[in-house]
Amino acid sequence: MSLAALGQSSKKEETPSQPWMNTSLSPDERASLVLKQMTLDEKISMLHGTGMVGLSPMSKLATGSNGGAGYVVAIPRLGIPAIQMSDAAYGVRQSGVNGRYSTALPDDLAGAASWDPDAAYDYGALIARELRAQGYNMSLGGGINLTREPRDGRTFEYMGEDPLLAGKMVGAVMRAEQAEHVIGDIKHYALNDQESGRNAVNVNIDKRSMRESDLLAFQIGVRESNAAAVMCSYNRVNGDYACENKYLLDDVLKKDWGFKGFVVSDWQATHSTAKASAAGLDHEEPGEIFYGDAMKKAVESGKVPLAEVDDHVHRILRSMFAAGVIDDPPQKSAVDVERGFEIAQKLAEQGTVLLKNDGLLPLDASKLNSIAVIGAHSDVGMLSGGGSAQVDAPGGNAIMPPGKGHTVWGEPVWFPTSPLKNIRAKVPGAQVQYDPGTDPSAAAALAKTADVAIVFAQQWESEGMDLDSLALPDHQDDLIAKVAAANPHTIVVLETGSPALMPWVDHVGGILEAWYPGIRGAQAVANILFGEVNPSAKLPVTFPKSDADLPHPTIVKPPPQSTTHHHEVDAWKRIAAGLPPFQIYYDEGLKVGYKWYDAENKPVLFPFGYGLSYTTYGYSGLKVVPGKNVLVSFKVANTGSRAGAEIAEVYAALPASAGEPPKRLVGWSKVKLNPGESKDVVIEVEPLYLSIFDVAHDHWQLVPGDYTFMVGGSSQSLSLKESANLK
Ligand code: BGC
Repeated sequence: MSLAALGQSSKKEETPSQPWMNTSLSPDERASLVLKQMTLDEKISMLHGTGMVGLSPMSKLATGSNGGAGYVVAIPRLGIPAIQMSDAAYGVRQSGVNGRYSTALPDDLAGAASWDPDAAYDYGALIARELRAQGYNMSLGGGINLTREPRDGRTFEYMGEDPLLAGKMVGAVMRAEQAEHVIGDIKHYALNDQESGRNAVNVNIDKRSMRESDLLAFQIGVRESNAAAVMCSYNRVNGDYACENKYLLDDVLKKDWGFKGFVVSDWQATHSTAKASAAGLDHEEPGEIFYGDAMKKAVESGKVPLAEVDDHVHRILRSMFAAGVIDDPPQKSAVDVERGFEIAQKLAEQGTVLLKNDGLLPLDASKLNSIAVIGAHSDVGMLSGGGSAQVDAPGGNAIMPPGKGHTVWGEPVWFPTSPLKNIRAKVPGAQVQYDPGTDPSAAAALAKTADVAIVFAQQWESEGMDLDSLALPDHQDDLIAKVAAANPHTIVVLETGSPALMPWVDHVGGILEAWYPGIRGAQAVANILFGEVNPSAKLPVTFPKSDADLPHPTIVKPPPQSTTHHHEVDAWKRIAAGLPPFQIYYDEGLKVGYKWYDAENKPVLFPFGYGLSYTTYGYSGLKVVPGKNVLVSFKVANTGSRAGAEIAEVYAALPASAGEPPKRLVGWSKVKLNPGESKDVVIEVEPLYLSIFDVAHDHWQLVPGDYTFMVGGSSQSLSLKESANLK
C-alpha cells in the first residue's frame, strides 16, 4: 500500500491534473474542483468509516487505519489523504495499546475551571501536536454537553454548566487544534446529558430552552473556531435521533449558524440513510451500515439526490483543506514528553479550585514536623476519567505492579503522579506518613499524631455510566469526618469529575478541588498546598448541597428493553435499528446550573464561578455604556499581599418581561495583579449574550428594557451593580 493510502503522504504540489493543490484558492473552490473529478464510489467512500470491533462490522478497507476510533480511506488518485481520527478529550487515547505515549492533561472540566482561553489554547495545541506525532489528522474531543445532570458519567469530559464559558473555552481548544493542522470536532450535538440509556432516550425540551442553553454553547464554539466537524449524539431530541434530526442539523447548525464543516455521527448513532442524509448527517462512523452500499443504492434509485451526497463530500473536503490536513499531512515523530509534563502541570495549577481555607493554607514547610497523607491511593497516583476519553497511564495503572493493568473499559485508572512523594519533597525535614484510609479509625489515629492531615478523596466516573449520587462513595465521608474530628488541621483534596457533596464541610480547615488533574496532578496540588502557586481557578459548575436539590432528584433510567449489554451478541444491530425510546422531560428548561438554584432560591454548597486565592481582591467603579456592544468597565485591585490572577465575572439580569432566570454570565476577564496593583477592565457584551430566543419569529431578540449588570468574583459575590436601558 502506498504512503498516500495510509494517510502518511508528504506535501502535495499543484499539477495541471490536480489544480485543487493550488493553495491560493479557497477551501470551497478547492473542494469543488476535487468533487468534479470524483466517481460515485469515491464519493461514497468518504461518507463512512471502516468498522469497529463490537460496534459495527469491519471492512477490508480498514488495513490503513492508524489504530484510532475512526478511519476514512484515502483517494490516492486525487491526492486526498485518509482521515485518521482519534479520541482526544484530555490527551490522545489508546497510545499505550498502539505502543506510543501521550500526555494526560487535566480533564476538560479542570480546563474550563481556568476560565482562561489562552490556557484552553495551550490545551488544544498540545493535543493536536501529539495527534500529529502519532499520525492522526482529526481529533474527537471538544465535549461541551452542558452540565444539566451533574451525575452524568461524562461530566469530567465537558466544560461545565454555562453556555458562554463552555462555548468560548471549546472555541479556543478548536482554534488551537486547527492551527496545528488537525481537524477539530465539537461533540455531542445535542442534549446527550446522561449516559443511562443514551442510545434510546428521547429528550423532551422546548425550542427556546435548548437554543438559549445547550445549543448556545455549540453556537458559540462553532462561531469562535470554525470547527471543521460537529459530532451528533446518540440520543433522540423531541422525537428524532440527533443524527437524523433536521431541526438540529440542517435548520439550526447548517442554515442558522452557517456551519460549513461536516457532521459526523457518534459511533453507531446513525439510524437511517435517506432520512439522516436529508436531515444533514454527512458522515457515518464507525462503519457503513447506512452510508456505504445502502447509500449507493439510495442514490441510484433516486431516494437520495446526488446533490445531497455532493454536499456531504464537499463539506468533508473543504474541511480537510481548511484545517490544512491536505497541504500539511502529519508525520509520525516522537512526542515531547518533558514539554507535555510542563504544560500538563501548568494547566493543572490553573484548574485546581481552592474551595475553603480557614487560614491553614498555604502550608508553611518551615513550621511542620509531621504530615499525615491519607486515602485515594495518594501514595502512588491520582485518578483519571474513563471511557473513550481515557488516556493510557504510562507504565500502566499506578495502583498495580509496573507494566500491569493496561486500560480496561469500565475500570478506573490512576496516573503515576504521587501526592505522597510530592508532599514529602516540600518538607524534607518532616515526617510524612501514609495511611490508605480503608480503616477510618486507623487513619484518624495517624492524623491525631500529625501537625496536619491531608485526606485525598475521590469519585470515579466514565463514559457508559452515571453516578447514583454526588456523595463520595466507599465511606469516604466517614473517613473525612473521623480524621477531621481527630485533627482540626485537616485538608481535603478532591479528585472528582463532578461536583461532590460534603457533609463534613464545616469541620475541615481547607478544601481543594483538583478534578482528575492529569499526569502532573500531584506536583500541581503540592505547589498549591505549599503556596508556590497561588490558586486562581473558579468553579465551572455549581456544587449543590444535596442530590435532592438537583432539577431531577434521581436520574431517569431506561427500561430493560431500551438497553444493550456488553455481552449481547450483535448489540449493534439492535442499536442501529433504534432501541425503544424512553422519555426524559427537561422541565427545568432554561434553568441550567446556577440559573436553577437562583430561580428556585436554593442555597448551594459552592456557587458557580466561585474559587478562593491566597490573596484578596476588591472591585470598584462599575460603568455600563450601552451601544452596539454594551461596554462594562470596572476596576479590580489586589488588596492582599501576594501576586495573583482574579477571574472577574460579569452577569446580567434581563428585564422582567424577558421571562428569564434571575441572571446569566455575559463575560469575564482573568486579571493578573501584583500586591497593591489595580487594573481597569473593559468587557464588551455583544447582543447575543443579552438576547432571548424568540420561537415564534425563529430569531434572537434583545428585549427592550432595563438590564442590571453585576460584577464580582463569583455568581454569588457580585458587589457592583449598575442598570442600563437597552433598546
Ligand atoms: C463516544 C464518542 C467517541 C466515540 C469514538 C463514542 O462511544 O460517545 O465521544 O468519540 O465513541 O470512540
